[in-house]
Amino acid sequence: MPTIRMILEKSCVGKFWFTIGGEIEYEQSLEEAAMSKLPEETGHKVDEVTSELVLNGPGTVLYDVFSGIGPFSIPAAVCGTSVVLANDLNPDCYYWLNENIRINRKARNISTYNMDAINFIQEILGSSLEKVWLDFIRGESFRRVLVLMNLPASAIEFLPCFIGICSVGMKKTYIEASECARNLNLSMRDLIPVVYCYCFAQKCADDSDAIREITDAIHEKFGGRGIDILAIRRIRDVSPSKLMFCCEIHLTYSVLFDDTVI
Ligand SMILES: C[S@@+](CC[C@H](N)C(=O)[O-])C[C@H]1O[C@@H](n2cnc3c(N)ncnc32)[C@H](O)[C@@H]1O
Repeated sequence: MPTIRMILEKSCVGKFWFTIGGEIEYEQSLEEAAMSKLPEETGHKVDEVTSELVLNGPGTVLYDVFSGIGPFSIPAAVCGTSVVLANDLNPDCYYWLNENIRINRKARNISTYNMDAINFIQEILGSSLEKVWLDFIRGESFRRVLVLMNLPASAIEFLPCFIGICSVGMKKTYIEASECARNLNLSMRDLIPVVYCYCFAQKCADDSDAIREITDAIHEKFGGRGIDILAIRRIRDVSPSKLMFCCEIHLTYSVLFDDTVI
C-alpha cells in the first residue's frame, strides 16, 4: 500500500476515487472482492462536499466514526486538519489505517481506535469534546467540529448513541467556553458537532418523499430532542430502486447533555 492515489475514470472525470493501493492493487482487489477481508474498500466515490469540508485544514476537529482504511481521515490529516480521530471496528481496516498513516508521513495529529462505533461515540467522542472546549478556552481557534458517519448502511441506527455523551461534570467547561465564545463575538454552536450521516432510501417519484422519510427517521432516533437538520443531500443512485443521501445534523446542548437545563 504505497500511497493513497487519485484515479480519474473515463466515466467519472474529475471525481475523487481513493483506493488502498495503486492501479494493480485495485484490479487485484476487484477480482478478489468476494474473498477479501476488506470487501468494501475496493474503491468507491468519495462525496465531494464532505471531502472539501474535511480537507479544510486548521481549526477543524474530525471524528471519523467508520473510517475504514482512512479515505477521509488521512487526506484530512495530511491537509492539516487540527485533530483527527479515526475509528473502525474491523481489525484489518484498523491495521491498514495505521499502515496508511505510517506511509503518509504528513498525516499528523491523527489518533486511531479499533472500537465499536457505540463505544467510540460514547466514550471517546464525548470526553474529547471537553478537550476541544478547554483548548478553545485556552485560546486555540476552532472553527468547527465534524463527525463523519460514511457508511455502513446502518450508520443512521447509531445516532441515538450521541444522546447524553457529555457528563454533568462537563457542564462547567461548556458554560466557560460559551462565555469565551460570546466575548469573541463567536457562537458556541460552532463548538458543537455537526454529524454527516450517510443513509439510503427507496427511490420515489419525487426526492422530497425520500427526504421526508429520512427526516422523520432522524427525529425518531433522537427521541424528539432538539436537533437542527442542516441539509439532506442526494449523493447518488445505488440501484434502480435505491438512493444514497448525506444528512447534515447539527447536534445541540440538549442532545449532548440529555438535558435542557444548563
Ligand atoms: C463501507 S465501509 C466505509 C469506510 C469509510 N468510511 C469509507 O468511506 O471508505 C464501512 C466501515 O464501517 C465499519 N464498521 C461497520 N460496523 C461498525 C461498527 N459497529 N463500529 C465501527 N466500525 C464499523 C466497517 O468495518 C467498514 O470499514
